[in-house]
Amino acid sequence: MAVVQNRYYVITPPGLELICAGELARLGIPGSVSRGGVEFAGGLRELYLANLWLRSASRVLVRLGELKARDFPTLYKRLVRLPWGRFIKPGTHCEVRVTCHRSRLNHSGRIAETVQTAVAKALGESSAGTGAAQRIFLRLEDDCCQLSVDSSGELLHRRGYRQASVTAPLRENLAAGALLLLGYDGSRPLIDGMTGSGTFAIEAALIALNRAPGRARQFAFMHWPKYRQSLWEQLCLRAKAQENVPDELQIVAVDSNPLAIEAAQQNAKAAGVASLVSLRQQQMQELQPGPRRGLIICNPPYGERIGRTAALRSLYRSLGQLYLQEFSDWQGALVCPDAELSRATGIDFAPVAGFSNGGIRVSLLKKP
Ligand SMILES: C[S@@+](CC[C@H](N)C(=O)[O-])C[C@H]1O[C@@H](n2cnc3c(N)ncnc32)[C@H](O)[C@@H]1O
Repeated sequence: MAVVQNRYYVITPPGLELICAGELARLGIPGSVSRGGVEFAGGLRELYLANLWLRSASRVLVRLGELKARDFPTLYKRLVRLPWGRFIKPGTHCEVRVTCHRSRLNHSGRIAETVQTAVAKALGESSAGTGAAQRIFLRLEDDCCQLSVDSSGELLHRRGYRQASVTAPLRENLAAGALLLLGYDGSRPLIDGMTGSGTFAIEAALIALNRAPGRARQFAFMHWPKYRQSLWEQLCLRAKAQENVPDELQIVAVDSNPLAIEAAQQNAKAAGVASLVSLRQQQMQELQPGPRRGLIICNPPYGERIGRTAALRSLYRSLGQLYLQEFSDWQGALVCPDAELSRATGIDFAPVAGFSNGGIRVSLLKKP
């Protein structure tokens, strides 16, 4: 039986497209990179693998079709013909996200309602469904509509282990993507000097273990009419068999705030990596390198622009001293919002990537 080839699109945080394409390539899936994502083709196996394994991605969409429309009756007529029944069960509530650029149709609320009515019609229902939600994306550009169905459900950075957090936690896929951008693969020591809720340490442990980040969560595709539970279970079993037991794993994460350490411990436990991560309350300034060289990373507090006090600058200064003196032969990286504060370290950091974390632009910088 020929396997149906779908076109898929992985949405990634801008800056992580190449890392995500590399992750796909390791799964044996070739992809082509564009701004904000990676496109690939495949069947359900490739779709499940992408959701199960991608650390840097935000969600995976299936491209349903494209159509041209300049008025609502045409839009409706063409929408009804798309193969909705392959992805949506009757009774499902469709949540439609619309973006419009340079198009005659630009009333996004009415476009979303048209999609809901067309899906109901295509599925043989008299009215739009009210059951479990399925997200649909409609992108309208120059009167051309691109329709996509979300396969992930909750965003992929929600691995399910974050039980507690303190100030400004990094999204899990940004932390994993930053580690991968820095070439971290679990074979050398890692120190997070300002661990907060433990994101870098936990993601590092998951990378070192080669543990699939999606193995314990639910996905939107599990509610599709053609969900192949046996295929999913088989891929999860294979993923489990591919886990490493690293012998020399060294992950140390410290924070000056005891509440942060408590939260990080809780999260590491929920992620099943508590025994692999050494978490302790300590000032970053007191860190000492071990005998093997590795990567030191910090995501210091930044505060609001107006709140960039002398104390904050002095913190960045001592971080610079730590990187230049104690950890001079380690790879050193920093995640912080702008050049201004990073300059206070006295190090001429090189930018590696820029992300948006909770609406704040942050840069990943590395010590030259
Ligand atoms: C932006 S948060 C880190 C967030 C973290 N990346 C996460 O994903 O949860 C900054 C952390 O630096 C910690 N911190 C501030 N000064 C410190 C110091 N001198 N030594 C160690 N940790 C410090 C704070 O307690 C806070 O938890």
